Amino acid sequence: MSNSSSRKVALVTGASRGIGAATAQRLARDGFHVVLHYGSGEAEAKAVKADIERAGGSASLVQADLSARDGADRLLAGLTEPHIDVLVNNAGVAPFVSIFDMDVDTYDQLSNVNMRAVFFVTQKVLTRMREGGRIINLSSIVARTAFPDIPAYSATKGFVDVLTLQLAATLGPRRITVNAVAPGVIETRLTTGLLENGGADAVQGMQALSGIATPDRVANVIAFLAGPDGSWTTGQVLDVSGGTKL
Ligand SMILES: NC(=O)c1ccc[n+]([C@@H]2O[C@H](COP(=O)([O-])OP(=O)(O)OC[C@H]3O[C@@H](n4cnc5c(N)ncnc54)[C@H](OP(=O)(O)O)[C@@H]3O)[C@@H](O)[C@H]2O)c1
Repeated sequence: MSNSSSRKVALVTGASRGIGAATAQRLARDGFHVVLHYGSGEAEAKAVKADIERAGGSASLVQADLSARDGADRLLAGLTEPHIDVLVNNAGVAPFVSIFDMDVDTYDQLSNVNMRAVFFVTQKVLTRMREGGRIINLSSIVARTAFPDIPAYSATKGFVDVLTLQLAATLGPRRITVNAVAPGVIETRLTTGLLENGGADAVQGMQALSGIATPDRVANVIAFLAGPDGSWTTGQVLDVSGGTKL
């Protein structure tokens, strides 16, 4: 691995599939050594690592359950890389549960992964982040526009947007940028149920651009924020929704 080389290091949480896997693959193509974090998807994460290496890139794995109270500590303890240049806080869950049906266990799981882990993974990784680093958080379009039946999930993305703004101000003196990307509906396991039974047509009906977006659409924007062209952008939430509900 590239610990001893000058290669920049990117840590992507939830890189075993979906947007995280696409982001890891893109950042590896852009020359980063990529640390692929996963929770339960060990086989999937290993497959992503193998793909990256087959394409000539460099990657390593770290496991941590981010719903656990000590999830961020465990992630950091598993990191062998002394420095991190880019952190992508991507891991997330999205139970489609209305305010009427939500129970406390589901709510706790949601808030622990989507909020507490984002906060404390960032806190821990900052101890290894070099000057000029980048933090990119996964928000969602649902933080700015109402979708039925996901109020708690939507609120966790509002947390992400506010944290992004606050940390951008705090970390500016270290030349660390902090931004978020806000996808619309992206075709991943998280949205499988939503896109079935005519759901894909309904989604396209809300978008200015036609088609259902694949994870690489989001990875492209994350790559901009992580790369040299993104160095003067901070505290922003970049929409990646194909113009949803304009
Ligand atoms: N898909 C969309 O339409 C969409 C839209 C807006 C925002 N987003 C956001 O984009 C991010 C990625 O979403 P996705 O669609 O790519 O979802 P996904 O395909 O379901 O992947 C979720 C990732 O998060 C990880 N994860 C979930 N719970 C975890 C836990 N307790 N501990 C550790 N890792 C955990 C999973 O890892 P393991 O399986 O290995 O545990 C997996 O790699 C999320 O933050 C989501 O809210 C998605």
